[in-house]
Amino acid sequence: MTDLPLEITLGVADADALGRAVGRVALLLPAEGALGAAAAGIDAATGGAVARVRAGSAWAKAKAGEGVEVPAPAGLQAEVLHLVKLPAEPTLAEARKAGATIARGLGAAGAEVVMDAGQRPADVATGLWLRAYSFDRYKTPPEGEAGGEAGGKGPVTLRLEGDATGAQAALDRARAVAGGVTFTRNLVNEPANVLTTTDFARRLSDLRELGVTVQVIEEEELARLGMRALLGVGQGSASPSKVVVMEWKGAMGAPLALVGKGVCFDTGGISLKPAEGMEAMTMDMGGAGTVAGVMRTLALRKAKAHVVGLVGLVENMPDGMAQRPGDVVRSMKGDTIEVINTDAEGRLVLADVLWYAQDRFAPAAMIDLATLTGAVIVALGHENAGIFANDDALATQLLAAAGAEGEGAWRLPLSPAYDAMLKSHVADMRNSVGRPAGSITAAQFLKRFVKDATPWVHIDIAGVATATGDHPYAASKGATGWGVMTLDRLVAHQFER
Ligand code: BES
Ligand code: MN
Ligand code: ZN
Repeated sequence: MTDLPLEITLGVADADALGRAVGRVALLLPAEGALGAAAAGIDAATGGAVARVRAGSAWAKAKAGEGVEVPAPAGLQAEVLHLVKLPAEPTLAEARKAGATIARGLGAAGAEVVMDAGQRPADVATGLWLRAYSFDRYKTPPEGEAGGEAGGKGPVTLRLEGDATGAQAALDRARAVAGGVTFTRNLVNEPANVLTTTDFARRLSDLRELGVTVQVIEEEELARLGMRALLGVGQGSASPSKVVVMEWKGAMGAPLALVGKGVCFDTGGISLKPAEGMEAMTMDMGGAGTVAGVMRTLALRKAKAHVVGLVGLVENMPDGMAQRPGDVVRSMKGDTIEVINTDAEGRLVLADVLWYAQDRFAPAAMIDLATLTGAVIVALGHENAGIFANDDALATQLLAAAGAEGEGAWRLPLSPAYDAMLKSHVADMRNSVGRPAGSITAAQFLKRFVKDATPWVHIDIAGVATATGDHPYAASKGATGWGVMTLDRLVAHQFER
């Protein structure tokens, strides 16, 4: 189930193969100018269809990465001839969009794609993989049709013209990235009755096959370590709380630590959420899902970096054992927390995992990801994740990586005045403050569990972990895998030798 939605291979632009292709034939063409040999061959075979489309108004209106379809083209065996506009030297975003455009119409017969080697075939492949994804393991297929994972889409051959040096290596790299994004999406889309804390830990343990060291820390040991803030969140659930530590040691030296919120379901606890929309809280493990996807990508591409991924896996449920509003818990760090609102549970989980990550690994830098606050959706909608940092250099590097990958991210402030709002009358701090600056006060809470000497970024992905409407690469609803590409790029540029 971690497999990619379709197989993509490279080939040469062979006119015979294109003439015989029964699925779709896609030509990636600049807006105007001379056709390459294979495209010219198809133009000739179809009696000039390519030239006519390129002279028409639909083509003129199409933006880079968008296309025009010619159904049942005379002279070819193909069901559709798809002309997709793509400059000779496209941007990464344009190339991915072209891939997504091809993926949209793709069926089981697959596609032959003709393009120049300079048109970023690996990024076209990424667009294909990300857009072809769908989560339909629970949808019974119509009579006579193969089921979602078994049937579906592809294969796709990217037939390259020009100098294809390095194209295979770039495609393999893109496959590793798409593999991580797919892993994250599958985890985030999985319902909470299937993806329990135990099932999640088992799926992470499977990363051992790729050379990742995986350790699952159970409740007894978490209690011995003093992680009472994390344990308090899970104590009303039948699923045992766990911390999973994944280590990819592709280099020596202090690691980058990635920390993820893994609330497998968030009812709010005794501070119960309203019924409407509560089903969405099956994605409240999105931070942990992204951390897992990054670890998978790093292992798949054998990154020369030392990265540890730590996730706190709990379920926030209300029962007779559940934590109450007003309870006071002692964190692993030693600070006490008044639990004003049991629905502000993510910060309680992260407090202990952040502290444990620093205590055990003394990381060179630390980045946490969490579907932490509804307030970040009020502030930034579904376009940007909220970024908070105690280190300008790391924040700038992260924002640059996100910008390059087209994953929205926007920095929000931290400052002592917000921290002062966390004051409690009975404990060292309280976990919930009220509506003003809700995402910032949550980040200030986390900051109390980060050593000043640890460069740290907190990413609130509540708005971006799942898509609500149209999304350039993801299927229109469900998990996006936000952050896997950004963090993989950050590792490659800043933490790899
Ligand atoms: N998991 C939620 C945040 C969330 C909301 C994620 C919407 C995705 C979509 C988090 O645990 C939560 O409940 N936060 C509260 C905090 C409040 C009680 C201080 C919130 O945002 O309302
Ligand atoms: Mn909550
Ligand atoms: Zn939550």
